[in-house]
Amino acid sequence: MEPCNKCEVCDKLCEIVPEIAGTFKSLGDLTRLQIIYHLATDTSGTLGVSDLAERLGVSQPAVSQHLKVLRAEGLVDSRREGFYIYYTINRERMVQFREHFDLMYTSVMEKCNRELVRKSTRDRGIKACVIFYSFSGTTRTIAEGIRNAGGCDLIEVKTKTPYSSFTAYTTGVLRSRKKACDAIEPEEIDVSGYDLLIIGTPVWAWRPAPAINAAVKAMRGCEGKTAVIFVTCCNQPGEALPVLSKALSDRGVSVAAAISLCAEDTKKSDAGGELLRRIIAADPLKGTGEGTTTQGVKV
Ligand SMILES: Cc1cc2nc3c(=O)[nH]c(=O)nc-3n(C[C@H](O)[C@H](O)[C@H](O)COP(=O)(O)O)c2cc1C
Repeated sequence: MEPCNKCEVCDKLCEIVPEIAGTFKSLGDLTRLQIIYHLATDTSGTLGVSDLAERLGVSQPAVSQHLKVLRAEGLVDSRREGFYIYYTINRERMVQFREHFDLMYTSVMEKCNRELVRKSTRDRGIKACVIFYSFSGTTRTIAEGIRNAGGCDLIEVKTKTPYSSFTAYTTGVLRSRKKACDAIEPEEIDVSGYDLLIIGTPVWAWRPAPAINAAVKAMRGCEGKTAVIFVTCCNQPGEALPVLSKALSDRGVSVAAAISLCAEDTKKSDAGGELLRRIIAADPLKGTGEGTTTQGVKV
């Protein structure tokens, strides 16, 4: 669905919402819903007014009136055969209604995620940051989604010498296999002011990308902090999470949750917000009074 360009992040919701309001209105009646049910479940998929009246135990004029409303909304189609008119469900219209509803629901859930974070952090005054590296943009999108949903700071780590698609799969994977560190910007990452560190990296050859290894080394003031780590990958995270977890634990950071996102997860429209919801559900700072947890929770 193309954005309407009328408002900033609307994604056509401004047009869709009045449209679904009309559809909800015509479906918001028991008899009309029962008509949809009978049309959907009858093996022929086609019923006349008298069939429907008999099945529903209501008069034929009443059924005609309800069918008129459903037709006006485009939810049912009619076909005349001699004296008789037969009705069927307009499946394309139903599918469109479902898609529109899903879009509205997703947008509502994004807002709910935001409110959930506000509620869970309001009283505790938790300060969190997302430290991430991204080669082709997926991990960045997730990190930005977390920031948008939770209002935390973003710290993007970049390699001083950028990889090309060729060097990523040659030099890059060799370096990730060796758990090597790339030269990165920023050279130092001061995390002393944060209660929770969220650290994300793409998986390279079943291990964390070398830039994030460098980021872990570059952290200052990290001893005693709590982290949640996440990796993005196609579908083979390999040992990326344990390797990153060990590197953090060597720096005195306790990893409270380790989350792997495969391509199917990262494709979702609110993947960052959804990840944040999972992080909150894991309650990484539980019982710490913003200190540390010692249990590793695999989400
Ligand atoms: C050099 C390289 C190595 C990769 N190795 C793996 C791997 O071992 N397992 C996997 O599931 N995906 C692998 N991928 C896919 C990425 O992990 C995945 O597409 C990730 O979401 C990309 O994140 P980014 O866009 O933030 O860089 C690799 C990608 C690259 C470029």
